[in-house]
Amino acid sequence: MATPPTPDGVPFLGNGMAFSRSPFDAMEEWAQQGDVVRLTFPGQSIYLVTSPDLIEEILVERHGQFTIGRQQRKTFSGIEDDALTANTGDRWKRLRGALRPAFTWDRIEAYGPQMAERTAAHTARWDNGQMDLHREMRLLTVRILGDTLLGTDVTGDEKVIMDAADALVDRADPRRIGKLLPDWLPTLTERRFERRIAALDDYVRGVLDGHTPGDGDVCSVLLAAHDRGDLSMSEVEDNLVGLLLAGHDSSAVALTYAWYELSRHPEIARSLVEEADEIADDGLLGGDDFERLDQTRHVVKETLRLYPPTWGVNRQATESVTLGGYEIPSGAQLMIPQWVLHRDERFWEDPQTFDPSRWARDEPRPAFAYFPFSGGPRHCIGMRFARLELTMALATMATRVELDVTASGPLTFKPSLSLRPTVDIEATVTPRKLNRAD
Ligand code: HEM
Repeated sequence: MATPPTPDGVPFLGNGMAFSRSPFDAMEEWAQQGDVVRLTFPGQSIYLVTSPDLIEEILVERHGQFTIGRQQRKTFSGIEDDALTANTGDRWKRLRGALRPAFTWDRIEAYGPQMAERTAAHTARWDNGQMDLHREMRLLTVRILGDTLLGTDVTGDEKVIMDAADALVDRADPRRIGKLLPDWLPTLTERRFERRIAALDDYVRGVLDGHTPGDGDVCSVLLAAHDRGDLSMSEVEDNLVGLLLAGHDSSAVALTYAWYELSRHPEIARSLVEEADEIADDGLLGGDDFERLDQTRHVVKETLRLYPPTWGVNRQATESVTLGGYEIPSGAQLMIPQWVLHRDERFWEDPQTFDPSRWARDEPRPAFAYFPFSGGPRHCIGMRFARLELTMALATMATRVELDVTASGPLTFKPSLSLRPTVDIEATVTPRKLNRAD
């Protein structure tokens, strides 16, 4: 059987050199060579898959022949051994089943007013003037998670969550030299990571100790699963830590890029503001406004297309499989890059342009030309939560402030867990009306 093409590399580092220099350009270039391309990195090969149909096969139709990739397991190992993100097989199924009731639309929709209220209170703190936009969006998403996940106001304690997220992002950076070292050799990155995760574990344990039973937050759902004997206490703790880490960064980068683009497209910003003003009618938005906020939803969708916070998902073949006419050996690592598919001219008109109106047009394209939350049984469990949160937060902010966004240079990104900017992104704030918390 044919073997997939391998782009030219350099001795020892193979394709790793091009990836380290410019990961996103490199992936787009390699994808030109075929739907499946075999890349060589020090110590391993990775198959880059860029056909929507093959991606659907891997994630949905033949998902049983693939599991999460080695990189993902390594990234989450040692800290969240009992969390969804790090598990496979029957244990993953049981954990996913126990977490699912916390993420049904009925439950998520009820978080809408809390998300809007928190955003309004957060926005009310902004003075006229300059602020670090990405940091503010991170603080906001951490506070929203505190309210909805933990049932507690985390204001003042954000650092413990953000520090752990930073350490995780550093640990997961595929370009990190320390990744080439054996696991038993502790690097500075590893040691910092362990310290910060231990601090977050302690924090979550403290929240659980003081938690008032109720049914209003994700924590309560997990504790109820514990009471039924469906989750151990360590599984409750690790999954809360996992959700805090998975849930804060992606949403924060999406909000940052949404504002970046809105600031460059005043006419799009204007129509979003008009719609949000009309629907909010000087009050707070609720979860049931989600469907009516067409402009905001389109801006969110387009932001997740152009700047997919998860720019690629990993899988590993659990047996030898045939994919697109190629034989892929058992144990092979696969990289499925949202970044490439979301900017592919085969599926998108003018793909580099931020154009939320494309979502109002009926343009046929394969399902997996767009998959910011991945797909199949292992898709993002927080998908509905994130969509609602981004829509509520963006529309609420738009009713209260104007943001003039500047970046310290052309946008470049860190190819780690989420698509974090490597340039500073600042905003000048102008309150639109009485900046109040309602
Ligand atoms: C814009 C925001 C977000 C994006 C783009 C995003 C995207 C993703 C993607 C692509 C995956 C990987 C799925 C796979 O391997 O196939 C994932 C997994 C996951 N996400 Fe999200 N996510 C976001 C927000 C959230 C939020 C807010 C939460 C929780 C409150 C969350 C919790 C999780 C969890 C727990 C997993 C692991 C699921 C599993 O392994 O079964 N995510 N997410």
